[in-house]
Amino acid sequence: MKQVLRSQQWFGKKGKDGIIYRAWMKNQGIPDYEFQGKPIIGICNTWSELTPCNAHFRELAESVKRGIFEAGGFPVEFPVMSLGETLIKPTAMLYRNLASMDVEESIRANPMDGVVLLCGCDKTTPSLVMGACSVDIPTIVVSGGPMLTGKYNGRDIGTSDVWRFTDDVKSGIMSEEELNIAEAGLCRSQGHCAVMGTASTMACMVESLGLTLPQNAAIPAADSRRKVLAQLSGKRIVEMVREDQKLSGILTKKAFENAIKVNAAIGGSTNFVIHLLAIAGRIGVPLEIGDFDRLSASIPLLANLQPSGKFFMEDLYYAGGIPALLKELDAFLNTDCITANGKTIRENYQRAECYNREVIASIDKPFNTATALAVLHGNICENGAVIKPTAASPHLFQHSGKAVVFENIEDYKLRIDDPDLPVDENSILVLKNVGPKGYPGMPEVGNMTLPLKLLEKGIKDIVRISDGRMSGTGFGTVVLHVSPEATLGGNFSVLETGDLITLDLNARSLNVDLSEEELQSRKDKWKPSPILAERGYTSLYINNVEQAHLGADFDFLKGGSGSEVTRDSH
Ligand code: FES
Ligand code: MG
Repeated sequence: MKQVLRSQQWFGKKGKDGIIYRAWMKNQGIPDYEFQGKPIIGICNTWSELTPCNAHFRELAESVKRGIFEAGGFPVEFPVMSLGETLIKPTAMLYRNLASMDVEESIRANPMDGVVLLCGCDKTTPSLVMGACSVDIPTIVVSGGPMLTGKYNGRDIGTSDVWRFTDDVKSGIMSEEELNIAEAGLCRSQGHCAVMGTASTMACMVESLGLTLPQNAAIPAADSRRKVLAQLSGKRIVEMVREDQKLSGILTKKAFENAIKVNAAIGGSTNFVIHLLAIAGRIGVPLEIGDFDRLSASIPLLANLQPSGKFFMEDLYYAGGIPALLKELDAFLNTDCITANGKTIRENYQRAECYNREVIASIDKPFNTATALAVLHGNICENGAVIKPTAASPHLFQHSGKAVVFENIEDYKLRIDDPDLPVDENSILVLKNVGPKGYPGMPEVGNMTLPLKLLEKGIKDIVRISDGRMSGTGFGTVVLHVSPEATLGGNFSVLETGDLITLDLNARSLNVDLSEEELQSRKDKWKPSPILAERGYTSLYINNVEQAHLGADFDFLKGGSGSEVTRDSH
């Protein structure tokens, strides 16, 4: 039986509508036969010069197009909102849901039978996948690839060094001049952050979910094999359309479980939790924050990559990439999950080899036995909080200390270096009102720079707690995503300087030593902060964003609306 393509609801029409749908496309010099039943493939492009990590995507799209043509499809490239992590204020996360709406509506409203998502910088992956899930047509992801490893004075550097250098300059170990030289060598090629930050984590996530061809995650952006992968992905999406291989056929609960286990083995970003929860919510797979702790617990850290380890994404690729790592995890994975190339995940990795055990450790001799992700509960975070133990300090895994509380980010900036601040190495820094509603947008400020007087004493880490996020490139004993967030008036909102807080990683608990009565009496006196936005998108965001433990999506965006549009435009 001949397949009736979705795009034919536009281009296959007779009469007035058909003319309107085809004739204006023909102003691009497209011959009539392209509209007569070829799979039309959208290339959803997050290219932008304001998103430097994705600035090479016009070139990458050309490779995708070659593959689409080669397989008998017709490519149509379209732009969507691009979220650059470094430039967007107050945080790119504020706009993840907005971008996902752009993606969803652009796919559904337009004549395409399949779509290639070009993803790179942190938020560009989850926003595109979330949007595509709510439509659910055949979809493949092509990541832009990591930058080449940075270089400074003969040593390898990457984004995690931004935090180290900042501390070193603050404590006088590094001069401004040296910092300038380091800055010049930090981002020396196209691509996204080269450590296992959020962008790399997201690239590994889509590969382990089965949404890409094998090796998508780690091939450097500047490596010609990235273009080869893009071309092959273009070719493959046309076949996926012919096979009617939709996202929902790949994104099963088992695929999500695989992604969580792989994230533990790579020491992925804590942001992974929020983005994967949001994606699951769109495709309708039940996933809870507790699943992350449960599924990560038995998985040791295999990838020796910064910020949990030493190496960079480039090294991961040369060592065999994600397929080599998946092979080590064979006993833990749901091996029969179908992936974008039509093969099972096991078929894709069974012939993979590891070329460097220093970078990808074997399951028998893991690089670190600590878990890469833990979910905490307690009277400070009734709905959960997350921590990345592999990037934390083992001497702080069990720790009680007095809180030093900052009511908001301005309060922190004003007082952190005050010589009279009552802080020492046993203190616990608490930062409120950096959550989804409270900032708004949940910025990456959770790994607060330590007070000058501690840095000068050579202290590198103390416990820090907030309702915000941390860059995937960050490190330290940093408790994040406290839910409910401070702006909602729960227990976390009423913490005060001097309160005794206990973190117990083994017990997965985070508690303040206050009676229920004391907490309640403080909450009775608590007053909400003024409304931060009365109009526009920010107000929509504040009113509809869910808490971090649910994925911080908008309540009204959960699920999908399918791909059907029955009414014509004229
Ligand atoms: Fe784009 Fe790090 S800034 S990935
Ligand atoms: Mg980031």
